Amino acid sequence: MVGAGCRDVLLTGGAGYIGAHCAALLASEGYRVTVFDNLERGYRQAIQRASMVSGKPIELIVGDVRDMESLRGAFAQGDFHAVVHLAALKSVEESIQEPERYQHTNVMGTENLCAAMEEFGVFRLVFSSSAAVYGDCGSDLATESTPLRPLSPYGQSKVDAEERIERFVSRTGAAAVSLRYFNPVGAHPSASLGECSDGPTNLIPVVMDVVLGNRRSLDVFGRDYPTRDGTCIRDYIHIMDLVVAHRSALDHTTHMDGAKAYNVGTGRGSSVLEVVDRAREVTQRVVPTRDAARRDGDPVMLVADVSRIEADLGWVATQDLKSMIRSEWAWRRAWPDGYASSRETSAAPR
Ligand code: UFG
Repeated sequence: MVGAGCRDVLLTGGAGYIGAHCAALLASEGYRVTVFDNLERGYRQAIQRASMVSGKPIELIVGDVRDMESLRGAFAQGDFHAVVHLAALKSVEESIQEPERYQHTNVMGTENLCAAMEEFGVFRLVFSSSAAVYGDCGSDLATESTPLRPLSPYGQSKVDAEERIERFVSRTGAAAVSLRYFNPVGAHPSASLGECSDGPTNLIPVVMDVVLGNRRSLDVFGRDYPTRDGTCIRDYIHIMDLVVAHRSALDHTTHMDGAKAYNVGTGRGSSVLEVVDRAREVTQRVVPTRDAARRDGDPVMLVADVSRIEADLGWVATQDLKSMIRSEWAWRRAWPDGYASSRETSAAPR
């Protein structure tokens, strides 16, 4: 059901993993979705498949949030009620090597977007933030008022982008929701959409590579953490639950003021070894592991307190770790090469 006054949505980064799932969900629920993506890390085919599974057209504008003119061009083409802003770089490791690039794309890109929204009179925004804004919370659940002490330039770029959005909101009276994602995993129930990357580094995609025989074993980064089995704990969240949170947030912007941040997780943590066990159970295959050194910048435990999003947006996570892994497994078996054959290079500035 489309929220009143929120029908036409510009979705930046809509050709990426979260973006394509978001496009599919919003389109299937009656929103008119226009994707704005530079296709540097996204895939045209992801949008085609999002359109196919939703049974609705999804328009693609190839453009870059770092380029004001291409943003203006996009806003001039439609009469948007709201923006869902996902266009960003998201690798923690890469951000350590190239921090300026993360500032440029994630922070300046957000600033540009806000400026274009102001220019074209669009005052509703849902922003893709991250639990990486928190850093190490020890053994406490992260609440939205936990101090922001990111451990990486990536996390810092999300803190800075949230702050740019707050300035936009106080300058213009816009309504904005920042969704702080914990660890998104899994795929669309059709198994036509999923995460696709050359050389994944996130745990569950790597485990799937091991199961499929693309890697010999999983390196378990640290077995001596102060947790129940010595490995790090994360809050994994099913991609479909995550995109439903975007829809709820979008609708919420029609009857709220100001800028708000919400955690999006399940509120339950799983250790690396628990993920491996669930993967064995789901796939009925062996998952060889190897003990490896701790990875730099890994918090011991990062689990969401989800009481704020449940209370304000009425959103709750519905899927457990096993169903996340089951859907990831279905996608990887159905499309072992993902969208790789349709990768495009960007015409956008770097
Ligand atoms: N891990 C391994 N071996 C691997 C990969 C991961 O042991 O080969 C471990 C990590 O050390 C960590 C856990 O699995 O303890 C989860 O690691 P991921 O790389 O899957 O996810 P992260 O929690 O490091 O990072 C994710 C996103 C970031 C986001 C962050 C927010 O990838 O974009 O969550 O907490 F910023």
